[in-house]
Amino acid sequence: MPTEPGPSGAPPVLEVRGVRKTFGGVVALDGVGLALRPGVVHCLAGENGCGKSTLIKIISGVEPADAGEMLIDGEPVGRMTPTLALRAGIQVIYQDFSLFPNLTVAENIVLPAAIAARSKLYRARRLRPSAERIVGELGLSLDLDAEVGRLSVADRQLTAICRALVQDARVIFMDEPTTALTHSEVERLFGLVRRLQERGVALVFVSHKLEEVLSVSQEVTVLRSGRRVAHGAASEFDVRSLTEAMTGRQVDDSRVVVPVDPESAPLLRVDALTLPGAFSGITFDLRAGEVLGLTGLLGSGRGEIAEALFGVVQAESGTVELAGARVRPGSIRSSIAAGFGYVPEDRLTQGLFLDKPISDNIIASSLGEHARGRIFLSAGRTAETISRLFERLRIKAPSVAAPVRSLSGGNAQRVVLAKWLATHPRVLILNGPTVGVDVGSKEEILQILREAATVGMGIIMISDDVPELVSICHRVLIVRRGEVVGEFTEDAIETHRIQEVMAA
Ligand SMILES: Nc1ncnc2c1ncn2[C@@H]1O[C@H](COP(=O)(O)OP(=O)(O)OP(=O)(O)O)[C@@H](O)[C@H]1O
Ligand SMILES: [Mg+2]
Repeated sequence: MPTEPGPSGAPPVLEVRGVRKTFGGVVALDGVGLALRPGVVHCLAGENGCGKSTLIKIISGVEPADAGEMLIDGEPVGRMTPTLALRAGIQVIYQDFSLFPNLTVAENIVLPAAIAARSKLYRARRLRPSAERIVGELGLSLDLDAEVGRLSVADRQLTAICRALVQDARVIFMDEPTTALTHSEVERLFGLVRRLQERGVALVFVSHKLEEVLSVSQEVTVLRSGRRVAHGAASEFDVRSLTEAMTGRQVDDSRVVVPVDPESAPLLRVDALTLPGAFSGITFDLRAGEVLGLTGLLGSGRGEIAEALFGVVQAESGTVELAGARVRPGSIRSSIAAGFGYVPEDRLTQGLFLDKPISDNIIASSLGEHARGRIFLSAGRTAETISRLFERLRIKAPSVAAPVRSLSGGNAQRVVLAKWLATHPRVLILNGPTVGVDVGSKEEILQILREAATVGMGIIMISDDVPELVSICHRVLIVRRGEVVGEFTEDAIETHRIQEVMAA
């Protein structure tokens, strides 16, 4: 089969054909092909669980394929292994970056290269000039001596990219690299991507932020249920057609808000909540059935406010009242008992027991209640709750017995949501609830939240996805430098108006 011509016209540096992979009974990839050309950014798109990460793992030798061929510079490769992939210049930047937090930026950049070269670890120091060179060439302002554990997510990201480059990457896969970046950091990353392109690197970009990924890519491949369903030049796609290719349907993201009784007493009252250095004088009410959006740039304090309400961090002063009773958010346990639920931002480290089955994860927080005798859950009711939420959230897995580790990113996010819905909180606080969730599923999740609100749950949604807030919120508060600087209600809730105040 002749190789399809790509936008750059150059022959592919890497090509796979007919890749097939199953996990137990689940077909993750069913005859997928992908050709990557030097200097071309390739967008790999598709719904949660369609097989994107699996394809990357196969190409980088982390997972063996059941069938298929791989060619590097037109030459067939027998069995791909991580060592072979490295030698061929294939680098993957995973979402957790796989960095060593206790080492410095420079050490992190050169260490894998040192290991690959079988040089002793202490010789990593001698490789420092190559770290300096790469950081300089890319025009980055990274402090080479800073400990990685202390860096911002964006700088960790850049460190991971430098590490890939110092090993002479010819192909770089970026699996959802922008989820934790601010707008200007995304710009910085894209500038870097363009420079890599000029150097002839082939890049693959996986992201659920479709507008963003289309703006940086020249070629697009869409997977659906493990099959390639669309392929072409990025210029042939827009967000709408890409969404349709991914989901097979049109996704309606219009604003749907069920009115709340303006006369009803507030369910939650937050008054002058203050934590010096993070936020101050935070005051707002939330009614039953209301969805309140809390937005602001990264570092604005929006996340800390959520954490203080839930008891993850302690506010220094101010009061919180839930249904007329004063709550002292002191610990997570007492917050749950008071009626709060919290979907954290960093689901992989804060939200889930990865090696436990989906079922255990769904009831994990409710069981805490059970243990203290507040709610008695019979085995039958527990099983029913689990299967209801499993179905309702359409978690893609063979059964509730599957470990969370085997789920795709977006499906793991649904488990976190299921877990908190199972506790029947009176107020559910969500921090970035649809980060990493595909467009179609995002609308489904928002609909589930709307329904929860309709039956009286109060919802506080922290997000920088403004269209998402517009689609679901009754009110939106803008946080800047730890203070509420703007409030939008009902008709005034509009994407570009909110974005203007956020950026001001
Ligand atoms: N180690 C594993 N064991 C069992 N099933 C797996 C394993 N890894 C992946 N799968 C399954 O293979 C399918 C594809 O998963 P994959 O992680 O490739 O999806 P994805 O396209 O990256 O999704 P997302 O956008 O949510 O990250 C899913 O059904 C997933 O549950
Ligand atoms: Mg993935």
